[in-house]
Amino acid sequence: MNNQDPYQLYGRQILITGASSGIGRACAVLFAGRGASLCLLGRDETRLHETLSLTDMPNKHCSVSVDLTDYKCVADTVRELVKERGPISGIVNCAGISTTVPLNATTEEKMDHFIRTNVIGPLSLTCLLYTSDAADDLLCVDPGCRRLIKKKKTIHHAH
Ligand SMILES: NC(=O)c1ccc[n+]([C@@H]2O[C@H](COP(=O)([O-])OP(=O)(O)OC[C@H]3O[C@@H](n4cnc5c(N)ncnc54)[C@H](OP(=O)(O)O)[C@@H]3O)[C@@H](O)[C@H]2O)c1
Repeated sequence: MNNQDPYQLYGRQILITGASSGIGRACAVLFAGRGASLCLLGRDETRLHETLSLTDMPNKHCSVSVDLTDYKCVADTVRELVKERGPISGIVNCAGISTTVPLNATTEEKMDHFIRTNVIGPLSLTCLLYTSDAADDLLCVDPGCRRLIKKKKTIHHAH
């Protein structure tokens, strides 16, 4: 890895959620083009494969179908990925849902699903990667912000 540029992607293994569509798919193509090896996450296997096919070297990357709100399954998946493919040193949190519902049609169940998908899922996944021994630093990209988290040290921000 290039020490001059903490955001260097070459040689990093990066996990991208929401990679089967939209922003996550666009990030996958961009990050693959910059030399990262990718683990693509989403629920729809067919669309994940479509994303893989848009990269220059599909065989360099992998995709896993998993529901982000199934925290245990996500944790097991990440452990398996690290075992098979080595440390994950970056996460791009793109999975999410945007729901516009009239207040009188909002239910606790809908709110719960929204919070689990958009907040707890991404946060617990990021914590899992950060607390694992797999990588010395973790590049985190969320819409609008990127940061490099050095183990037990600095949190470097860039907007
Ligand atoms: N597009 C914009 O201009 C914009 C602007 C601001 C914020 N955002 C937010 O950014 C996020 C992504 O936007 P987008 O336009 O890329 O949306 P999108 O095209 O609908 O993509 C959403 C992605 O999230 C994944 N996903 C949703 N629920 C999931 C779950 N439970 N488990 C695993 N994966 C899940 C979907 O994959 P599967 O269907 O395969 O599971 C899909 O890949 C959304 O939350 C959106 O509200 C978007």
